[in-house]
Amino acid sequence: MFLGIDVGTGGTRALLIDRSGKVLASHAAAHAPIHSEHIGWAEQDPEDWWRAAQEAIRGALTAAVAAGHTTPVEAVGLTGQMHGCVMLDAAGHVLRPALIWCDQRTQPQCDWLTETIGYERLIELTANPALPNFTLTKLLWVRQHQLEIFSRIAHVMCPKDYVRFRLTGVYAIDMQEASGTLLLDVVHRRWSTEVAEAAGIPMAWLPQLFEGPEICAHISSEGSAATGIPARTPVAAGAGDQGAGAVGMGILAPGSVSATIGTSGVVFAATAAPTLDPKGRLHTFCHAAPGIWHVMGVTNGAGLSFRYLKDTFFPTNSYDDLTDLASNVPPASDGLLWAPYLFGERTPHLDPDARAAFVGITASTTSAHFVRAVLEGVAFSLKDTFTLFAELGIPVDRIRLGGGGARGPLWRQIQADVYDHAVELLEAEEGGAFGAALLAGTGIGAWPSVEAACEATIRPAQVIAPQNSETMAEAYRHYRRLYPALRQVTAP
Ligand code: XUL
Repeated sequence: MFLGIDVGTGGTRALLIDRSGKVLASHAAAHAPIHSEHIGWAEQDPEDWWRAAQEAIRGALTAAVAAGHTTPVEAVGLTGQMHGCVMLDAAGHVLRPALIWCDQRTQPQCDWLTETIGYERLIELTANPALPNFTLTKLLWVRQHQLEIFSRIAHVMCPKDYVRFRLTGVYAIDMQEASGTLLLDVVHRRWSTEVAEAAGIPMAWLPQLFEGPEICAHISSEGSAATGIPARTPVAAGAGDQGAGAVGMGILAPGSVSATIGTSGVVFAATAAPTLDPKGRLHTFCHAAPGIWHVMGVTNGAGLSFRYLKDTFFPTNSYDDLTDLASNVPPASDGLLWAPYLFGERTPHLDPDARAAFVGITASTTSAHFVRAVLEGVAFSLKDTFTLFAELGIPVDRIRLGGGGARGPLWRQIQADVYDHAVELLEAEEGGAFGAALLAGTGIGAWPSVEAACEATIRPAQVIAPQNSETMAEAYRHYRRLYPALRQVTAP
């Protein structure tokens, strides 16, 4: 059995698979809610991830035994929410809550970095511009506002790497995750000493770098006592949730693309070489498999838009109730548009201050229209990334859907219509934990490569063809005009 652990935003999930890719058991444990002291701030306690990880791992191991799977765990892989900044002192103690991926407070630090290093030079060095989501900018905020804490930092890492540290005692990070720190020389797959020096960050704080499937640590006796995973079990480096999720969906060759709607929404394309967007609107990262890269566009408030709508206006309805309601509304929602900028926006606007809006309400607009408009608005926002792919010549041969956006028939069809491209569903789409387990199995040689692991375990189930492309293309043209107009009235 291979164990994948996904330290997500809402919770941590542990999943056990066998060599055929069959899921043998899984268990999830929720995290405490995100702490947000001010609008746009988002923090979580790393100790809470570790508590949830222990619960999820024990739950999955117990469920596997109960189902008669008594073979030992051969290897462990980790994945999780990316970009979060975990700061530890020299004794390995957490110094303050982590600033997580969707925290938007660091635009002043982004501006300082861009000015200090130069916009083009920063993209040359790290393949990406300074964005508030990226780890380094969060570290700089702590330096500026909490110098006492900053002066005690000895180790910096991302969320899943903290869980790895508790499991193994080892400070390690993989290339794909490290790409989202803004401290990696993405093209050469090594830390950028130039960026670290210019930013004033000691190299000694940074964990050792590994490729995704590399075995970088082993379960310690403390890690074993806390979780039930046998001591000395090998642990692969793994990848951030987007990298591991793409592995779990078989997105490794140029032309294969995924569109995944979780809390955030991501359109992800594998590339044979680093493909830079000179305007920095797409992220260019190392992929989770050695020797390949990827680009991705990120909508901060994708699944979050639907959750926000339900929690705020339909708290007693289920998601299925809401999509049933929305299926009675015609494509393009009779002109109602949703701009999904609940947490600012990354692709393509790179604007942490962007605000969400419904536009086009009439006296005939029903609650069902609001639901459909939200599902469509999220798809339009992901379409923006496809538009950039076309502009940069990034091929799109096959689109696979993942996350909550792949689960119901309505959102799938909306995506096929908006992308104007057939979309594929997989037999089992298990998210990042599945990809992390494949990286773990590859690490101990169960498969000769990540590509071989995907071939052995991933099976497409269904293809959905577009039906309403023209209507949705017209609505997308209107949607494109929303952001510039909103910017005029919502600027802080
Ligand atoms: C990717 C990103 C999110 C988080 C949370 O760049 O910020 O996908 O990893 O899932």
